[in-house]
Amino acid sequence: MSTYTLITGATGGLGKAYCRACAERGENLFLTARDGERLAALTASLRTAYAVDVRYFPCMLQDERAREELFNAIRGEGLLFSRLINVAGADIQKAFSEYTQEKIVLQTRVNFEAAVSLARFVLDVRAPALEILTVSSVSGIYPMPYFALYSATKKALEQFFSALRVELKDKNVKVTTVLPGGMPTRKDICEQIEGQGIWGKIATKSPSFVAERSLRAAAKNKRVYIPGLANKLMAFFTAPLPLSWKMKFIAARWSKISKDAF
Ligand SMILES: NC(=O)c1ccc[n+]([C@@H]2O[C@H](COP(=O)([O-])OP(=O)(O)OC[C@H]3O[C@@H](n4cnc5c(N)ncnc54)[C@H](OP(=O)(O)O)[C@@H]3O)[C@@H](O)[C@H]2O)c1
Repeated sequence: MSTYTLITGATGGLGKAYCRACAERGENLFLTARDGERLAALTASLRTAYAVDVRYFPCMLQDERAREELFNAIRGEGLLFSRLINVAGADIQKAFSEYTQEKIVLQTRVNFEAAVSLARFVLDVRAPALEILTVSSVSGIYPMPYFALYSATKKALEQFFSALRVELKDKNVKVTTVLPGGMPTRKDICEQIEGQGIWGKIATKSPSFVAERSLRAAAKNKRVYIPGLANKLMAFFTAPLPLSWKMKFIAARWSKISKDAF
């Protein structure tokens, strides 16, 4: 029986790159995101470009009942999955005092709860071999004032999936978390990268680079993968510095930025 790759956040900049990279590998795809029309258009274009089966189901991932509908739709089609790629995320960035309760729930659930929930679901509909690849961020390496909730959810992903890979070690499941730096996806993110000047450019990799390299890292069952030399060096050389220095630097830099595309 042919198996499928389940991709959340499929219609976003990085999600599309994963769709193409997996389709090029001959993988059948099951896609999800919020917007049904964008999903339908993406599905049609992938079906035209690649000789693979592509299916989709829209889902507001922060909603437990909507996730159950997604799971029921998949169960109804009797599909088995050899790969899950957790891409969906809300990169809301602002001072915490400016958050509404609604935005706290949205960002926490989409970024963390949904990825955990999808991972649990896919264990019930898995092929004999399974890879779980989850998109975190370099923003999860250190606590980030003015990007605090995003940073915390991305750290939580790394912690959770690092623990899960040990639980699933002898069950033919590979578990990898990818920590990208900047990727020019949405317009507001491109402007933000541009505004960071040379540092922004150095830390930026294209979505296709991140997708391709992280799929290779997942095949090697790396626990964590940081795409790009500059981001790897940043993580390595800043590790010994006192956390208070790092957070002071981050606060000064990020207090000037505010974005919310969600
Ligand atoms: N871009 C960067 O610089 C960067 C850097 C590090 C990490 N990341 C991470 O990489 C991932 C993808 O980022 P991106 O730049 O490709 O973002 P993007 O272009 O904004 O795409 C986000 C995707 O997630 C989906 N999504 C958002 N909220 C959702 C919700 N409530 N329920 C279901 N789906 C939802 C969107 O669906 P709709 O299209 O239907 O709205 C879209 O497919 C995120 O996890 C982000 O945190 C990004």
